[in-house]
Amino acid sequence: MKEQLEQIKGSALAAIAGAETEQALEEVRVRFLGKKGELTAILRGMGAVAPEDRPKIGAMVNTIRAEIEESLSARFGDLKAQSMERKLREERIDVTMPAPEKKVGKLHPITQTSNRMVEIFTGMGFEIAEGPEVESTYFNFDALNAPADHPSRDDTDTFYFSENVLLRTQTSPVQIRSMEGKIPPIRMISPGRVYRSDVADATHSPMFHQCEGLVIDKGITMGDLKGTLATFAKAMFGERTRIRFRPHNFPFTEPSAEVDVSCFVCGGKGCRLCKGEGWIEILGAGMVHPNVLRAGGIDPDVYSGFAFGMGIERVAMTMFGINDLRLMCENDARFLEQF
Ligand code: PHE
Repeated sequence: MKEQLEQIKGSALAAIAGAETEQALEEVRVRFLGKKGELTAILRGMGAVAPEDRPKIGAMVNTIRAEIEESLSARFGDLKAQSMERKLREERIDVTMPAPEKKVGKLHPITQTSNRMVEIFTGMGFEIAEGPEVESTYFNFDALNAPADHPSRDDTDTFYFSENVLLRTQTSPVQIRSMEGKIPPIRMISPGRVYRSDVADATHSPMFHQCEGLVIDKGITMGDLKGTLATFAKAMFGERTRIRFRPHNFPFTEPSAEVDVSCFVCGGKGCRLCKGEGWIEILGAGMVHPNVLRAGGIDPDVYSGFAFGMGIERVAMTMFGINDLRLMCENDARFLEQF
């Protein structure tokens, strides 16, 4: 019996030393000390032992059991420490590794362009005016001297909600809204969205942005308009930029002009950006028509003024070299993060 116990002890201690994982060690524990374990089996077999030998054998079993338990717990401790060490080694964080790049949002090129325009004009003493995108035909057309047969009033050009309510086709209605109830001098710009029933292509969009401008005071002339736009163009496109007026027609200005800026890439010689022209058209302008002043409650015999309407997309596309207007609305981060 004694030899059997010594043997069990020996193989238990060897198994403990050989267990490489906490799970393997647990299996060893069950094998020797568990309910059906080898040592337990000896205690169960005590019935067959002579009564006078029982206390001795019992004491031996208990000693061996204690020895095995001690060895088990020491090994458990070792294995735990080992696995912790391994974990620490494997999961170590290299603090010198570059951190994953954090993406920071940016202002849309239209917003950047519009903000710059606002900055330049407010620097010249202009105020910002606002008007609704859902507008009445009165402000969008009638008060702006646009006759009933003007093509821009057509169903095919304009989004109507009802006969008299529409998505504004231009920011010019803000001219009238800024005049009403005010005594000049008036100096305002109004950037915002406008809508036209156009099919989207590289140069057209049913929604785009304009920046309206209006100055009214005593003795305002076309010279003031030219000076203001020349100053703006230099600030926006560079000191060497020149402007050019071409005769045009708008119902709400007389005389009217389309205004080009000299190409800031080639300086006017002609290049890819200006399509060989040397000039890039960016706005419509003119002296405010007397009928428009009247509609705004201002006496054209006392006051005069000029107005302009700039295409913000047009300016953004030339400045950033964007060749397709649709890119502006696609919300593709790969496009937007370039500006
Ligand atoms: N509203 C005109 C357009 O959309 C631009 C413009 C504004 C022209 C003010 C003259 C004066 O084309």
